Amino acid sequence: MPASSLEQIVSLAKRRGFVFPSSAVYGGLGSTWDYGPLGVELKNNVKRAWWRSVVYDRDDMEGLDAAILMNRLVWKYSGHEATFSDPMTDCRSCKARPRADHVFAAQKGRDPINVAEINAAIEAKELKCPKCGATDLTPARPFNLMFKTTVGPVDTGDDSGLAYLRPETAQGIFVNFGNILDTMRRKLPFGVAQIGKAFRNEITPGNFTFRTREFEQMEIEYFVKPGEDEAAHQSWIDARTQWYVDLGMRRENLRQREQTKDELAHYAKRCVDLEYRFPMGWSELEGIANRTDYDLKAHSRSPENPDAVGELRYFDQEQKKHIVPYVIEPSAGADRATLAFLCDAYDESLVKEPPAEETAKLRELVLSFAKSVDKRDPKQMETATKERLVAAAEKIAAALPGSLPELLGLADDADANRIEVWKKVRGAAEKLGEEHTRTVLRLNPKLSPITVAVFPLKKNEPRLVETARGIKRDLQRAGLRTVYDDTGAIGKLYRRQDEVGTPFCITVDFQSLDDQTVTVRDRDTMGQERVGITDLGAALRAKV
Ligand code: GAP
Repeated sequence: MPASSLEQIVSLAKRRGFVFPSSAVYGGLGSTWDYGPLGVELKNNVKRAWWRSVVYDRDDMEGLDAAILMNRLVWKYSGHEATFSDPMTDCRSCKARPRADHVFAAQKGRDPINVAEINAAIEAKELKCPKCGATDLTPARPFNLMFKTTVGPVDTGDDSGLAYLRPETAQGIFVNFGNILDTMRRKLPFGVAQIGKAFRNEITPGNFTFRTREFEQMEIEYFVKPGEDEAAHQSWIDARTQWYVDLGMRRENLRQREQTKDELAHYAKRCVDLEYRFPMGWSELEGIANRTDYDLKAHSRSPENPDAVGELRYFDQEQKKHIVPYVIEPSAGADRATLAFLCDAYDESLVKEPPAEETAKLRELVLSFAKSVDKRDPKQMETATKERLVAAAEKIAAALPGSLPELLGLADDADANRIEVWKKVRGAAEKLGEEHTRTVLRLNPKLSPITVAVFPLKKNEPRLVETARGIKRDLQRAGLRTVYDDTGAIGKLYRRQDEVGTPFCITVDFQSLDDQTVTVRDRDTMGQERVGITDLGAALRAKV
């Protein structure tokens, strides 16, 4: 069964060392996350697979790693200083500060055309504060999403040291266009790929690592002759969709969505979003835009830009003249892709029916939890939260034991944990879950944080331990991420590795000492075969 809620993914990610809330020892910092030992491996594998596919496997691409801090003028002429903002309104009554376009869309049932339309509705008292219902809202003001910092040891109080943390990696590629053209002797069409951090002071971050203020982008700027842009755009849309599918993402969970004219960024001629069916609904994974010649022109010396030192252009040998290339931009998020692969791989199922009386006991506990939530004073718990928890608990209670995985997914729900009886529900569910459910991350082996886990059948048998450690060392040297583990019974160790997506487990037993073979167990089929120790590297590499 796939994850029915993001909580199941958050819970697994925290429990098994994929992602932790950042600065948790000081109560955290909203919507910032740290990748733990397994998360960093998974995300690195996603980034490596992307780089291999868009740089190494092609002949028309180069790589780049530009600085995060750039001259402020980059952001002036890219248009970000003036336009990279969200419209905010203040409620004079309760002091809430919601996004004005969201308020408009929620209350009018459609997106606003522009800020003037929002302000007309505010002035006519047609919009209400979503928190207190008052119509006393201030006109919408732009709130720039770029984080500011100061360069140099002294904050002079004016703007002379002002710099921004880049809100996209793309501009680093545009301003290096000339350098790459000159040094790499490229002819059009060619592209530049870059992976790096980007920062946005998002007003509504959330949904785990889906929208955060610090994130990583995997961006390509692909330069083509004007006129060849539309075909190149379509070919990148197809190639990027196929990349996710080749790495195991289910095609039915992936779709292409054409942006409407109203949605298009000011520089874009066409943009197609690749969307993934996350547990919270279809949401953007990657945007693939035709940015025309907007950016190269914007950073070229002209009457509109007297600050640029030269022109970003290309000498076309055929036409014997300079041209400004068009740009196709497939722009993906490394964190979003990692989250989507995690969601897609998640599979939790009931492997054995628990005894009927234990199921009945758990059902009673879940229903008494629903009652406690329902009785909560609205001052202690918001009505929407109460309704969410009661609906979830009643649905789960009606479907037990089949809904046990769903119940376990709620275990870490912060609101549920505020209710005393939840501790009992959680304890009983975890006990049943331990014995009767199996969680497997069916990750493509190329993405799995660990490729092979090696266990000795007995940890107090030195010959088994020595052989297992030797296998671990050899496979690691052969380039397969391998771990050694002897901290539990074999069945338990298999379960732990299934839960983090390890495709192969090797057990060294007494037969291994006689005939130099080991058991290789496959995560997906749970089938086991005996393989000679000397053949392991080749056999496993063939499967990966
Ligand atoms: N250079 C174009 C650009 O930055 P974008 O649609 O704003 O376009 C591209 O961002 C991708 O970056 C998105 O599809 C998403 O995967 C990722 N992304 C954007 N904002 C993000 C955020 N706040 N948190 C996580 N990922 C984000």
